[in-house]
Amino acid sequence: MRMVFLGPPGAGKGTIAASAKEYYGIPHISTGDLFRSNIKNETELGLQVKSILASGGLVPDSVTIEMVRNRIAEPDCKNGFILDGFPRTIPQADALAEMTDLDAVVDFQIPKEEVVKRLSGRRMCPSSGRIYHVIFNPPKVDGKDDETGEDLIQRPDDKEEAIMHRLEVYTEQTEPLIKYYRDKGLIKEIDASVKPSEVFELLKQSLC
Ligand code: AP5
Repeated sequence: MRMVFLGPPGAGKGTIAASAKEYYGIPHISTGDLFRSNIKNETELGLQVKSILASGGLVPDSVTIEMVRNRIAEPDCKNGFILDGFPRTIPQADALAEMTDLDAVVDFQIPKEEVVKRLSGRRMCPSSGRIYHVIFNPPKVDGKDDETGEDLIQRPDDKEEAIMHRLEVYTEQTEPLIKYYRDKGLIKEIDASVKPSEVFELLKQSLC
């Protein structure tokens, strides 16, 4: 199964991908996680994209496309993958179409007012990327990762100003992909405003 998760920031793509990758036995490829890992490891790519991510803007297409091309060529992707956060622009979608066929593009639908609530309360484990929410999905011990006990962090782009910018970028550059993929007959729309377990059930039903 080769699928793309599409939807505004905070729609729950990463949260649901964590369950879907186990269920379907395919890797979860988050371009945001790949960039954040490069930033953490202070690679050349990480230094190049650090300020772009913090502001909520998009990394240039050429850089992002090459990163994904290399990642999906790895052996663990031979039976499929979940692409989360890619493509985000029409040129990225055109490039992906040249790399591979897709089975489905899942559109996570959520009112934009809900996005701010979800993102401002999000906390994550810096080494594993495990995602929490201070109200909707709190860790067992306040501020600590459930498995390793590491301190949880707030992403720099989860500050209110960056959230607003990310939403504008989504509306201008990424939302047009819904029509792009609808025209190709690939879109599966799911209600992402309900509880994560219910969103996951809707995902499974939509992919039957
Ligand atoms: P990326 O990491 O992809 O960020 P995003 O798309 O903005 O998505 P998020 O990770 O913010 O949200 P999500 O939908 O995964 O929600 P989550 O599950 O965490 O990208 C970051 C940056 O990298 C971009 O801004 C850009 O700079 C760069 N980048 C990445 N890809 C790029 C590309 N292709 N081109 C160029 N640049 C690129 O959930 C959010 C919160 O809500 C959590 O706290 C969670 O616990 C909670 N939650 C989740 N589901 C529910 C639910 N059903 N009910 C209640 N709470 C929930």
